[in-house]
Amino acid sequence: MIDKIKNICCIGAGYVGGPTMAVIADKCPHIQVNVVDVNQSRINSWNSEDLKYLPIYEPELAPTVKRSRGRNLHFSTNVEEKIREADMIFISVNTPTKISGIGAGQASDLKWVESSARQIAKYAQGETIVVEKSTLPVKTAETIKKILSTVSNNNKEIKFNVLSNPEFLAEGTAINDLENPDRVLIGGENDESINYLKDIYLNWVEKEKILTTNLWSSELSKLIANAFLAQRISSINSISALCEVTGADIKEVSRAIGMDSRIGGKFLNSGPGFGGSCFKKDILNLVYICNYYGLKKVASYWQKVIDINDWQQERISSIIVKNLFGTISSKTIGILGFSFKADTNDTRESPAISICKDLIVEGANLQIFDPQVSEDQIAIDLESEPKKVSENDFDNFGWISCNDIYDAAKNADALVIITEWEEFKKIDWQKISNLMRPPSWVFDTRSIVNKKIVLKNGLNIWQIGN
Ligand code: UDX
Ligand code: UDX
Repeated sequence: MIDKIKNICCIGAGYVGGPTMAVIADKCPHIQVNVVDVNQSRINSWNSEDLKYLPIYEPELAPTVKRSRGRNLHFSTNVEEKIREADMIFISVNTPTKISGIGAGQASDLKWVESSARQIAKYAQGETIVVEKSTLPVKTAETIKKILSTVSNNNKEIKFNVLSNPEFLAEGTAINDLENPDRVLIGGENDESINYLKDIYLNWVEKEKILTTNLWSSELSKLIANAFLAQRISSINSISALCEVTGADIKEVSRAIGMDSRIGGKFLNSGPGFGGSCFKKDILNLVYICNYYGLKKVASYWQKVIDINDWQQERISSIIVKNLFGTISSKTIGILGFSFKADTNDTRESPAISICKDLIVEGANLQIFDPQVSEDQIAIDLESEPKKVSENDFDNFGWISCNDIYDAAKNADALVIITEWEEFKKIDWQKISNLMRPPSWVFDTRSIVNKKIVLKNGLNIWQIGN
């Protein structure tokens, strides 16, 4: 029997594994926490002297890492050794949507979860608790259990217990979400293992907030929480289009319905469509599972949440083209924000990607600025290299990245706000108006700027749902 959890290993030093382990290490100085990853350069960044080079931008992450790193929080690529030493192992690897084979485009690709389970089976010693942290399709724990018992050859010395403990943190507020969770969910079959994990959370979370369920309820609840949140966004986004044609204002509508305590005010901000690593992937997964079990109507119901999201993104590029006299060929467009939401450098499924690609296809020159996203990342996402800037090559469409808001606005015919970064709410519109080429347009896809001030400075403005 495990006496007490003294050593934790987390496989995957990404957006989930990194911040989650940083908070566990911070709250539990008596536990050694080892985060391992196959990606050496990512590990190097986690270990960088200057905390500004951590691989993830997340408010409060750097001071949290600083308090524990080297004391009881360690980042390395020693997967084998750290698995061997651990009493409890979290699987926090990525589970992207499959791109080929059965379930392509919908099912999650579990190859990294599977390879993590194989590594655990091979190297773990004694009794080990394996915790699924990654969002996984229902019944994945079954697969993990099977791999653990067959690969470890049913060796009597080695015993595994599998728990599901999905992460509900949102990027941009991860540290606060981890420190003050609405709830912690632990699914499992073995009370003793559940209690070991519960004891860790009890170091900082009230016991009333720790829910225990069976494995399948826990796995499914994570998918459903994300599906419900995404559904709210698609619902409000669908109404944004209706507001634009009727003269209603989406912000007023959101406020009015959100004050109904049965509806609630959160997640009613209309925008360019949801992005991020989870929503789309999890709903596709839900659709796949429903189809698998023959629930066609349920599958098509949830598919609609994704359809509205794709439509919202396409709608924005067409509105831009339409307002710029039906053509943007050789026009310059400043893009403000490339991450999928504010306060993160993550661009996975960011609406900026499809909007920028559409504008480039239409022949535009984009001047992109994001406070945290690097030029290299933009190049990966847009699948093209930045243009070599020379003053007179505006006939060639493409993109460049800029150092600030005003650089992005220089000589631009339009400025498109895609991410709701705080600094975009404080733009000096007079300065912008002097930099842009008239008749200049501002497209505010998050409805965050003061329309009156923009108009007063001689600019035209389109705002979502207005
Ligand atoms: C998370 C969750 O775990 C996933 O379920 C959720 O639905 C999306 O977000 P995240 O932490 O954001 O994943 O992914 P990512 O930032 O890509 O980090 C995963 C890390 O695992 C990467 O650094 C990758 O190198 C590492 N990895 C992957 C391994 O160390 N070993 C592997 O076999 C595979
Ligand atoms: C989400 C869930 O919130 C989190 O619980 C889960 O663990 C992972 O997935 P995340 O994707 O990091 O978190 O961010 P979230 O704040 O949920 O935003 C997702 C997307 O929805 C973003 O593109 C955001 O801009 C958009 N959004 C959110 C809106 O368009 N309007 C809103 O009102 C809220």
